[in-house]
Amino acid sequence: MRIGVPKESVPGERRVALVPDGVARLAKAGIDVVVERAAGAEAGFPDEQYAAAGATIGDAAAALGADLVTKVQRPSDDEIARLREGGAIVSLLAPAASKPTIERLAARRVSAFALELVPRITRAQAMDVLSSQATVAGYKAVLVGAAELPKLLPMLTTAAGTLAPARAFVLGAGVAGLQAIATARRLGAVVSAYDVRPAAAEQVLSLGATFVGHELLSKEAETAGGYAKEQTPEERARSQALVDEHLATQDLVITTAQIPGRPAPRLVTAAAVRKMRPGAVIVDMAAESGGNCELTRAGERVVEGGVVVLGPVNLPATVPLHASQMFSRNIETFVKHLVKDGAAVVALDDEITGAMCVTHEGAIR
Ligand code: NAI
Repeated sequence: MRIGVPKESVPGERRVALVPDGVARLAKAGIDVVVERAAGAEAGFPDEQYAAAGATIGDAAAALGADLVTKVQRPSDDEIARLREGGAIVSLLAPAASKPTIERLAARRVSAFALELVPRITRAQAMDVLSSQATVAGYKAVLVGAAELPKLLPMLTTAAGTLAPARAFVLGAGVAGLQAIATARRLGAVVSAYDVRPAAAEQVLSLGATFVGHELLSKEAETAGGYAKEQTPEERARSQALVDEHLATQDLVITTAQIPGRPAPRLVTAAAVRKMRPGAVIVDMAAESGGNCELTRAGERVVEGGVVVLGPVNLPATVPLHASQMFSRNIETFVKHLVKDGAAVVALDDEITGAMCVTHEGAIR
């Protein structure tokens, strides 16, 4: 059994799927790893560390031709063409949005596992890259916003006068949002948050932030899997009015709301932005799925009436060392789940393997 770790080819992607620590633990479990030259260099893991952990350093062909390839970003057509026929790959695959990629993987008879499809069960928590990477992104979003703000975040009492603390508002209090709340609190901001799930309200309060619209929460806003459902038009109108009013008083706004498989919900309208204070900053973490703010443009900085709207893309890649370290631990846990007696066992009736498998033996699942 040989695992391949190719160097990521998407521009700006600095993460690597497996870090040297993970390689060492897999080696102990009897699994060989071949790492493409410089695969971890941009994340702070030089080839020497991989070699010391027991990996073979090779070229792209060796890494992509392994029995099981581990990747961060969805493979390109060229990368798919170099995968071993009948081999396996575990990677982010954006399965809902990348039909041609899935078709090519099936045509190559590759068993492909999409990391987005890790079931939200306790047993699979250690394999959940969406959570681990959202943690990194939520933290970084606050730093990006704080750096853009014309204010300091904490309250300061100095000989030159007293500065009031900045007000930060986090919309969507899932994994990323909770990390954003904790980070903004550590930096000294006065933090509030909003979400549609009742469970999120308790978590927000336990982090020392206030919850906007507590009285409007309904029990039906959450699916059995813990994700948000789309709101009814009436629910939306009532919460929108509260959010709009609150936005007008905020300095830093971080939006993280997502609904799996659908465009991001629109929570900050252009009209609401025009009522915000000049100098306020919005960091829209949902930029890649259409944005929570009407004015967001993915990867760009938009200024409207003195309010800055940032739509950062791939924030985890900007903190590549820790993001890779967490990603790697997720991959390692999945690999150990998949590999039995030195071979990948694709048990489609397994709750985790079956949920994540998108192609197997030439068929799309
Ligand atoms: P996500 O990235 O899909 O969404 C982010 C947040 O946006 C969620 O809290 C969601 O409720 C919120 N949201 C959606 N529509 C909204 C709207 N119209 N207005 C305001 N907020 C809106 O979700 P994420 O962060 O990946 O996970 C959500 C929850 O799932 C977590 O907080 C956790 O409780 C649970 N979870 C469970 C796991 C497990 O058991 N293995 C793993 C990861 C998360």
